Amino acid sequence: MIKFLITIISCLFVNYASANDNIINERIKNFKYAKKAMREINQSLTNENYLNINDNILFLYNWFKVLPSYFPQGSEASISNNSDASAEIWENLDLFHKYSNNSKNISLGILKSLDKNNKKNIKVKFDDLARSCSTCHKKFRN
Ligand code: HEC
Repeated sequence: MIKFLITIISCLFVNYASANDNIINERIKNFKYAKKAMREINQSLTNENYLNINDNILFLYNWFKVLPSYFPQGSEASISNNSDASAEIWENLDLFHKYSNNSKNISLGILKSLDKNNKKNIKVKFDDLARSCSTCHKKFRN
């Protein structure tokens, strides 16, 4: 009976760990895509290809809307995963949410400026958005 329980319990742990591994891989994939989106927006600003900016900003806006939910308790960097997430995220969750919200709001601002075709604002806000990535990384990425 004890052996049976140990097997069941260890299976639960394995499943728990792999569930977090999946979400870690998923968020890393989204962050890589975010980096690509920023690069493309930067290029599009030079080429004045505003249609392409819209798609990429929409991706970023949607990503920042759900980003915190990709950080469940216990999914920080460890030797058994490929995450760089600092344990500080869960010690200061309010600030982590605040940073994510800030990036989301800047993305929304860019969508609005695109709508109004306000080119100068798009550029200013794009620089703000790039800064907002680094602000969060400095604090919460190892
Ligand atoms: C609210 C905080 C936060 C914001 C805002 C944020 N990031 Fe991150 N980012 C992280 C954390 C935490 C990690 C580490 C995730 C992990 O390894 O589990 C990360 C990882 C990354 C990575 C590394 C992925 C890899 O290859 O391992 C890239 C690239 C990245 N972010 C790009 C961006 C870009 C571009 C922006 C802005 C458009 C951005 N991030 C905004 C918190 C943030």
